[in-house]
Amino acid sequence: MKTYKAISVLALLVVVAGLITGCPQKTPAAKEPLKIAILAPLSGDVATFGKSTRDGALLAIEEWNAKGGVLGRQITTVVEDSQCEAEPAASAANKVISQDKVKFIIGEVCSKASIPVSEIATANKVLQISPTSTNPKVTVDEAGKAKPTVFRACFIDPFQGTVGAKFALEKLNAKTAAVLLDQGNDYVRGLAEYFRDAFTAGGGQVVVWETYTAGDKDFSAILTKVKDANPDILYLPDYYSTVNLIAAQANQMGIKAIKVGGDGWDSPDLDKTATAGGFHTNHYSSEDTRPVVQEFVKKYQDKYGSVPDALAALAYDAANILLQAIQSAGTDDPEKVAQAMEKGTFSVVSGDITFDAQHNPKKCAVILEVSPDKVSYKDTVCP
Ligand code: PHE
Repeated sequence: MKTYKAISVLALLVVVAGLITGCPQKTPAAKEPLKIAILAPLSGDVATFGKSTRDGALLAIEEWNAKGGVLGRQITTVVEDSQCEAEPAASAANKVISQDKVKFIIGEVCSKASIPVSEIATANKVLQISPTSTNPKVTVDEAGKAKPTVFRACFIDPFQGTVGAKFALEKLNAKTAAVLLDQGNDYVRGLAEYFRDAFTAGGGQVVVWETYTAGDKDFSAILTKVKDANPDILYLPDYYSTVNLIAAQANQMGIKAIKVGGDGWDSPDLDKTATAGGFHTNHYSSEDTRPVVQEFVKKYQDKYGSVPDALAALAYDAANILLQAIQSAGTDDPEKVAQAMEKGTFSVVSGDITFDAQHNPKKCAVILEVSPDKVSYKDTVCP
């Protein structure tokens, strides 16, 4: 009798609870989706970086969802315009963590934005993978120790700067270089310094080293110094929007040095007329004939109608690395996923990747040549 009473009281409670919450008593429900944030610059000076990054990551996620998702859960995304700048990126990271409750962030693109995001991710034990931020400080702290839950899908600038310098010395037979840089940008300053160190170590001479400030539009004062020194090459380690301005003004002043730069040149909006005859280091070439690359290029083109640049390829890779790591960890606990990432080998568009102790993958770089109508593959350099 007593048991019956207890059971009917319980049943009544369940019905009442159901009425209050408005939920009918559930049959085992679909699992909750897994949410991933994408932080990228969708407006401003380097908006092509953000569009490619978002589109590359979304393509990978769509493919996972079509195959049943990850851990049996569908994947949803929160995309934020973090502008390639420290403050908007930090607010976007705080927002997606505290409001959207994400445990995983793909982004940012630019090192100066990824560095503050990495501090927030570390403090909140959220896993961050930057597709393209190449400055060493993104994944390591002041003491040189890897931040436990921060990774990247690209090589780092000490390597990129060395590849650029060796190419200038050995393939362009350069003896002298001018370097122009934005001191306030971690990526630009870092790449300029790594290039300088490798160029001088290889017997070259940096005859002009001049700085400017983000937002400058008139470079004539520092370009006059370049003109007077008449160097073999002009190294411009900034993003395409600034490179476009400097290159056009250098041409106008009759500077003949060959222009050389880094991955920041990679954009459909690079001014190919102004930078023609120049070269830049990059992460990938869409002309790479490996089947995995061509398959990706085709899928991306079918969906978005354009050839994917390195930002799209690396965002696609970053999303795949993250989802493979979640799947193999068997949980969405970011610390466990980070451990799976440390141990795993990931077959992605840019190769078979493993991470070193500082959470950087070992990867080759490509050198691309700019002409007025196209940017073409020139060489591959491996560490
Ligand atoms: N490597 C750049 C940075 O760290 C970002 C970038 C990557 C830009 C690839 C263009 C292409 O800031």
